[in-house]
Amino acid sequence: MPPKDIINKAADGLDALANTLSISTSPTNTFHSPGSHFPSSFGRGSRPTRAPRQLKPFNTEDIKILLLENVNQTALDIFNKQGYQVESHKSSLPEDQLVEKIRDAHVIGIRSKTKLTARVLAEAKNLLVIGCFCIGTNQVDLEYAAKHGIAVFNSPFSNSRSVAELVIAEVISLARQLGDRSLELHQGRWNKVSAKCWEIRGKTLGIVGYGHIGAQLSVLAEAMGMAVRYYDVVPIMALGTARQVGSLEELLQQSDFVTLHVPELPETKNLIGEKQFNQMKNGSYLINASRGSVVNIPDLINAMKSGRVAGAALDVYPNEPAANGDFFTNDLNLWAEDLRGLKNIILTPHIGGSTEEAQSAIGIEVGDAIVRYVNEGVTIGAVNMPECTLRSIDFEQASHIRVIFIHHNKPGVLRQVNAILSDHNVEKQISDSRGDVAYLMADISDVKESERKDINDGLESLGACILTRVLF
Ligand SMILES: NC(=O)c1ccc[n+]([C@@H]2O[C@H](COP(=O)([O-])OP(=O)(O)OC[C@H]3O[C@@H](n4cnc5c(N)ncnc54)[C@H](O)[C@@H]3O)[C@@H](O)[C@H]2O)c1
Repeated sequence: MPPKDIINKAADGLDALANTLSISTSPTNTFHSPGSHFPSSFGRGSRPTRAPRQLKPFNTEDIKILLLENVNQTALDIFNKQGYQVESHKSSLPEDQLVEKIRDAHVIGIRSKTKLTARVLAEAKNLLVIGCFCIGTNQVDLEYAAKHGIAVFNSPFSNSRSVAELVIAEVISLARQLGDRSLELHQGRWNKVSAKCWEIRGKTLGIVGYGHIGAQLSVLAEAMGMAVRYYDVVPIMALGTARQVGSLEELLQQSDFVTLHVPELPETKNLIGEKQFNQMKNGSYLINASRGSVVNIPDLINAMKSGRVAGAALDVYPNEPAANGDFFTNDLNLWAEDLRGLKNIILTPHIGGSTEEAQSAIGIEVGDAIVRYVNEGVTIGAVNMPECTLRSIDFEQASHIRVIFIHHNKPGVLRQVNAILSDHNVEKQISDSRGDVAYLMADISDVKESERKDINDGLESLGACILTRVLF
């Protein structure tokens, strides 16, 4: 059963909705990036030369947004500016309350604690889009959402800088044994030592995975006087005077500090284990702020006990507690207490990306993606739909409409769609598929008000239809 298309609501009250031109806010105006490092995905490569017209198939007061888990104020500001109705909660909701609330919502914004299972989503008859105001999307049944025409957006890279800064702090902290000295003094013990404490200037930082975080880190480390080498499975242009090396082994042999910034993949599971520790320099350091599965922790414990590894910083673990509390014990990970007993090891509870700046950037990135999707049907950045965009319809194109047709990816559907649109001039059209779901966007010129509903109803009547939206 496809979700109820809100265009039906719009079509019922076309008179009330016709005055779309009175809404003057350009969607591009709301895409205020927090800085030049934050790439705009809007209309990539197709910047409109004339002012884009904001499309709305509905009264903006009618768009209902349910925000849970204290989504950042930056997102609320974006939604309020659009005139959407926003209901915001500080925490997640128990499932029965969630099911009640989600029934009305066109948009839901969550972080990691709210589970949007097929059972919950089945109640969400009006839902167009889910915003995960966080990195991961495991908490959402992505396939169910796609098959019911619900796009899902997240913000995978807004916290890269925060992670890179934490790693720099850890490099210095490990080199100076700051964690141990601080702990000793907290316990009343004065222990002034310089043996095996180092400056980081002139030392080599080996970065495994030169993506968003690895590359940021490279620049920061060079500014501190470090030499940077990196290993990545793809050739990537070096920043500054960093150098890519040909193998992980080469990197481990050359580096005083090794820091891991790879994704969690079958190939990266236990990427660093006994063999790799033996390839590292004697007395070198390991930092892992990527994913817990990347390091074999019992092997790390052995490498630290033997002195080959002089210090380590871990921010991520194979098993992490779902809530704050005294959970970092052997019940969670068999080796937890051994790890806690080591010297010169910094253990942090997955806080690499946890800064005010990152939260605010996530609010802006996901908030803007949702507005672009709701207002214009642009799916750039969606994690469960094909990524499609068309340049905006502008103010001079007053009788243009945009058709969004999410459908089952079957042969012959485009022929049926084209038959419905054949009496009109399709100015631009894009269609792409991802698995079983296909996404079509088409901008059509000179459509009379009375024809909009026919187009909508014609597309909705097709057997392959998941969701039709006609924006004007
Ligand atoms: N600690 C935290 O709070 C926190 C916050 C954000 C991201 N992360 C994690 O950090 C990691 C990196 O994030 P990112 O945003 O830089 O990712 P990214 O996708 O931008 O970069 C990952 C890089 O790793 C490379 N890579 C993939 N497999 C590899 C392999 N086997 N060997 C070497 N290189 C490989 C890729 O080619 C890519 O260049 C991810 O695991 C992410 O989940 C952690």
